[in-house]
Amino acid sequence: MDLQGKRAVITGGAVRVGRAISLALAAAGCDLLIHYGRSAGPAEATAEEATSSGARVTLHTADLSDAEAVRSIIPAGIDALGGVDLLINSAAIFPDGSLLDTPLADWQQVFDINLRAPFLLSQAFARHRRAIAPEADADAAAIVNILDARIFRPAADHFAYRLTKSGLHALTEGAAHELAPDIRVNAVALGAILPPPGEPPEYLEDLAQSRVPLRRPGSAEAVAENVVHLLRQPFLTGVTIRLDGGEFL
Ligand SMILES: NC(=O)c1ccc[n+]([C@@H]2O[C@H](COP(=O)([O-])OP(=O)(O)OC[C@H]3O[C@@H](n4cnc5c(N)ncnc54)[C@H](OP(=O)(O)O)[C@@H]3O)[C@@H](O)[C@H]2O)c1
Repeated sequence: MDLQGKRAVITGGAVRVGRAISLALAAAGCDLLIHYGRSAGPAEATAEEATSSGARVTLHTADLSDAEAVRSIIPAGIDALGGVDLLINSAAIFPDGSLLDTPLADWQQVFDINLRAPFLLSQAFARHRRAIAPEADADAAAIVNILDARIFRPAADHFAYRLTKSGLHALTEGAAHELAPDIRVNAVALGAILPPPGEPPEYLEDLAQSRVPLRRPGSAEAVAENVVHLLRQPFLTGVTIRLDGGEFL
């Protein structure tokens, strides 16, 4: 798929991993709707950087825990960019908690943000695509979901979070079936990419030395390169790239 002139929506596209994806898509020639929640200042800065590589950029804030707010995102992309060709579901929250100590309210919140929002966005995106481009064209539209490679090795930590990412993995494969041949749906499952907000880079270096077979952390730029790869390859759908240095083999 030639990304030049494609119109992309990136959730959580203002900061960290989402920011790197926004900038890589802008560099590849896409126009962008950068969705953000609270990061208004960083969103302006990311938009400015993306604009400098020639992209048309619009910003849109929406609380992903609010279904009506989520439903505003694809229409905002259509209004601002004339249509939407690519959807990147990157935004998520990462609450800790085991099976025994996860309160229902926390469960609900992480499911709403990490799984219900990508579901609603995928549905709105697919309906938009089917309305504007009913002819089958595998080069026309694609979704990439950002997963967590933890889902491939179950453990007690981040219990509800893991379930949301497992659900998003299932959504990726199910949607790949349902939305073919005109919309491809793929995913990247991340390992140690960036330290949790507030932790120094050494946090991740130490973790990589002890847990990652390749003995190094990844990077937000590597995530973005893999997203671009999945978008460009017209024979890939239902694929999840594990970007974890072998950590969760
Ligand atoms: N960092 C890693 O090493 C790593 C590892 C495995 C998987 N991942 C996955 O990679 C993706 C990005 O990770 P990250 O570390 O860059 O995430 P992050 O720094 O925690 O950022 C979370 C993003 O989600 C958005 N967000 C969260 N709750 C929201 C809400 N209620 N409404 C609107 N937006 C909301 C935030 O937007 P605002 O800041 O604008 O509010 C922000 O852009 C996530 O899906 C994560 O699960 C990351």
